[in-house]
Amino acid sequence: LEMKLFFSKHWLFAAMTCEISEPGDWVRVDIGRESVVIVRKKDGEVAAYHNTCRHRGSRICQEERGHAGRLVCPYHQWTYG
Ligand code: FES
Repeated sequence: LEMKLFFSKHWLFAAMTCEISEPGDWVRVDIGRESVVIVRKKDGEVAAYHNTCRHRGSRICQEERGHAGRLVCPYHQWTYG
């Protein structure tokens, strides 16, 4: 009920930009059943993506944070730039 009435209707704090200061840095944020990966892209912009593989829906990032040139799905190794 909280997810429906509160969390889905308001902006939520996810992370500070200093946590992903370098290109390739990422943090995982779980909100209810949803999981999001926030990344610092090569061009310096910040982007957020569903933490779900396009192949079979596996969670791509298992750790809370990291640094990678490409994110690799642990299931069948699809990669995301
Ligand atoms: S589920 Fe990610 S590569 Fe298959």
